[in-house]
Amino acid sequence: WWHQVEPAPKDPILGVTEAFLADPSPNKVNVGVGAYRDDNGKPVVLECVREAERRIAGNLNMEYLPMGGSVKMVEETLKLAYGENSDLIKNKQIAAVQALSGTGACRLFADFQKRFSPDSQIYIPVPTWANHHNIWRDAHVPQEKFLYYHPASRGLDFVSMMDDIKNAPNGSFFLLHACAHNPTGVDPSEEQWREISHQFKVKGHFAFFDMAYQGFASGDPERDAKSIRIFLEDGHLIGCAQSYAKNMGLYGQRVGCLSVVCEDEKQAVAVKGQLQQLARPMYSNPPVHGALIVSTILGDPDLKNLWLKEVKDMADRIIGMRTALRENLEKLGSPLSWEHITKQIGMFCYSGMTPEQVDRLTKEYHIYMTRNGRISMAGVTTGNVGYLANAIHQVTK
Ligand code: LMR
Repeated sequence: WWHQVEPAPKDPILGVTEAFLADPSPNKVNVGVGAYRDDNGKPVVLECVREAERRIAGNLNMEYLPMGGSVKMVEETLKLAYGENSDLIKNKQIAAVQALSGTGACRLFADFQKRFSPDSQIYIPVPTWANHHNIWRDAHVPQEKFLYYHPASRGLDFVSMMDDIKNAPNGSFFLLHACAHNPTGVDPSEEQWREISHQFKVKGHFAFFDMAYQGFASGDPERDAKSIRIFLEDGHLIGCAQSYAKNMGLYGQRVGCLSVVCEDEKQAVAVKGQLQQLARPMYSNPPVHGALIVSTILGDPDLKNLWLKEVKDMADRIIGMRTALRENLEKLGSPLSWEHITKQIGMFCYSGMTPEQVDRLTKEYHIYMTRNGRISMAGVTTGNVGYLANAIHQVTK
């Protein structure tokens, strides 16, 4: 039956975790996957999550959720993206369903795009999270690129980005990272977002926001929604993928949300119904446990405040590690500039290291990271930062 099946290539991100786990070295360091670790390098379950689980325990039945998932979870999740007092929410203009975290939300949207705008393409930033390419490829939506990152300045290539937005055919679909761009850690400023939004208006483009790291850019989820709010102020009908993997540490629970802003309630009902139709033959309905954790936390003011504090603590620990890594490299006398380590934001540092340098880090120092030079700062700790800095210095000098 399956003679024609070739082994699949390793995933560029999750494959790194597999290689890390297989390495017996006691010195090994995993700065590959974007998953938060505490200062001892251990996975973290937030206290708000522990408390929500205590409250849920015993009250839980294992019934199916509706095809669109938990209504309460979705309601709370929309407030995070669109604002507590959003008129769009009040007017029931947003079609929204629970999704299998950010990946599932993106995929559901890509399938929706293919079904209802079958000749459209998606403009994807260069670079982007590797899985974005797989998602729209498997949904059979052709991909175009727009420039985003400027390697020489290790910052945003705003001029090229705006040119690509202007040169795309009117009414194109664009994938934007709402905050804490993955893999570069480089976001447009507020002013630049306003210009982008304005240009989208001029061109009649559709903005689809992937918001996987809300809270990790500034430490405050509300501030991190600014890009989206700017687009909403300008009257755009956007789409948005939200995930609780990172900001609630619910990675394996696969809990997130896909929303599409519509012209009115009637359209929103239709769009939601079609999203559910897409979900039904794929996974029928989404899992219940993570959704209940989220709705328990966000539905209780005390737990929500605890969550906000814990998000900020995670973001602050990462910022501390950025400073430590840069200082260590400078102390070692590295002649290169490492300013970008502290300038970039969110979970990642786009180091500028070449794939060959990364290969040396892995072979000689048992340091695991993606070959595009991305360092997950969430895996850096007080205990390994010196070792990491020395290894980086050795392979880049
Ligand atoms: C990452 O970029 O490391 C994360 O989003 C994890 C993943 O699924 O790739």
